[in-house]
Amino acid sequence: MTISLRPIGIVHSRFTEVAGMPIQTAGAPDEPGRIEVLPEFAAGLKDIEGFEYLILLTHMHRASKELLEVVPFLDTETHGVFATRAPARPNRIGLSIVRLVSVEGCTLHFTGNDMLDETPVLDIKPYVPRFDARGTDRVGWFAARLDQLPKVRSDDRMA
Ligand SMILES: C[S@@+](CC[C@H](N)C(=O)[O-])C[C@H]1O[C@@H](n2cnc3c(N)ncnc32)[C@H](O)[C@@H]1O
Repeated sequence: MTISLRPIGIVHSRFTEVAGMPIQTAGAPDEPGRIEVLPEFAAGLKDIEGFEYLILLTHMHRASKELLEVVPFLDTETHGVFATRAPARPNRIGLSIVRLVSVEGCTLHFTGNDMLDETPVLDIKPYVPRFDARGTDRVGWFAARLDQLPKVRSDDRMA
């Protein structure tokens, strides 16, 4: 089965190359970006200004590799891609939770940016802690690595 998707908008970002950019939105909470939602989807933005955080589902369009085992940016060991957040994955789906700063027509200004310029946005959903936040101590191999998040930046290993 093949599924065909169309972008509902596009990310504008100061990052035009993967090398040196943040690897997660939580590692770059002040990093700005904006989404230009395509005019035909404008009505879908009604009431979005009421949310502090948005979940973006994106297509990491410049990931040319599709790997099932990867050495992620936060580690030196190989992990199965589905146990990572690596971009070089089947379907190249990205999930970025960003902080909505303002809405100007079809433009959504946000902070917390780990996306390349011109990343296609497939969907936007409101972040609702009661739905989406879980308390857990079981975070797999990340447990030993999360302290490094603020200082780790991407390289081009998955481009
Ligand atoms: C580790 S992924 C995490 C993305 C998202 N927060 C997630 O967890 O799905 C973020 C990295 O993907 C790469 N990247 C970002 N936007 C991309 C794009 N449009 N195409 C290919 N790679 C991209 C950069 O190397 C960036 O540091």
